[in-house]
Amino acid sequence: MKESLLKHYQFQFGEANGSKPSVFFAPGRVNLIGEYTDFNGGHVFPCALTNGTYAVAAFNEDKIIRLYSENFKAEGVREFALTQHTYNEANGWTNYVLGVVDQFEKAGLVMDRGLNILVTGNIPNGAGLSSSASLELVMATLLNAFFDWQQPMVELVKLGQRSENQFIGVQCGIMDQFAIGMGKKDHAILLDTNNLTYEYAPIALEDYNVVITNTNKRRGLADSKYNERRVECERALADLQTVLDIQTLGDMTEAVFDTYANQIQDPLARKRAKHAVYENRRTLKAYSVLNDNDLKAFGALMNASHVSLRDDFEVSCKELDVLVELAWQQQGVLGSRMTGAGFGGCTVSLVAKDSVDSFIENVGKAYREQTDYQADFYIASIGDGARELK
Ligand code: GLA
Repeated sequence: MKESLLKHYQFQFGEANGSKPSVFFAPGRVNLIGEYTDFNGGHVFPCALTNGTYAVAAFNEDKIIRLYSENFKAEGVREFALTQHTYNEANGWTNYVLGVVDQFEKAGLVMDRGLNILVTGNIPNGAGLSSSASLELVMATLLNAFFDWQQPMVELVKLGQRSENQFIGVQCGIMDQFAIGMGKKDHAILLDTNNLTYEYAPIALEDYNVVITNTNKRRGLADSKYNERRVECERALADLQTVLDIQTLGDMTEAVFDTYANQIQDPLARKRAKHAVYENRRTLKAYSVLNDNDLKAFGALMNASHVSLRDDFEVSCKELDVLVELAWQQQGVLGSRMTGAGFGGCTVSLVAKDSVDSFIENVGKAYREQTDYQADFYIASIGDGARELK
């Protein structure tokens, strides 16, 4: 892989005259359970994938950032002065790069040399597998190395999230960047988003596979809906705080929530908060049943998570619901749910290895009949976090 990337780089930018090119990688992520809990002080349980974003770079002599993506070939090479990093919709994918440059600069870490950068990724865009956070983290890791800024990974993770919040304008939590930065091969990460303490849990599922199914429905309007959900949760929290001493929705058990839910004035905000509280508890239970090797119980929690995202948090859509319901009907399926921000994107299912072929065939066929889309299936392969490929 590395050799071929270096060849592509050379083809695009010619022999490096500034420095020898280096290669970096950041994965995509899939969240097993714990959806929309990360900006509510709750827990998440994602893992990094072996698919992700590669970046090859070398210094140039021009004080210019040159960017080329093999995923957006028609755009050719884009050039930016080192000081030129303001958000502009017309800059498309390069905004994710400029956002990271901008955040480093705000932290006092300023690029004083230009770079030629080639990017290529194998995560489907807009599928809810965090292609954008992957691009942010591959860039943060790359710049950190080229300029020897010596930032620990968890700082790069936070910087990626700030870039998304402040530069791109999506008020996301920290799950995606954390999973991508801190991922570990064959492990999921139980992360407490309140204080960033985390534990790795081995995902040795023996007779089961984690299967990702892409609706191939683009996540239209997802960003504005996402920010709306965040506001609704904040409103619910504010109402609860008039009677309870809590900092986040994640501080509550289901029982406490049920007792005080009527303090939340807006019924919509009440439903959103219910999801956040219950989903956080489901995530903790999921971690514990996984430790006991009770995959059946894990699957049941995944199913409950989907129902709650569909009915209370209302971030599912017809295509996701069709895929999940079809999955539930298949032999060998322990659980299935939408994953990520929703409104399109992917589902994640726990499928017996000897049922995967029939799962793909049956779900694929029925999905085609019931929607306007064709689904794609991937067997998740869980890999390490963002790094230089030496
Ligand atoms: C997106 C966000 C994450 C998280 C999920 C929903 O992926 O970037 O921070 O909120 O949605 O769980």
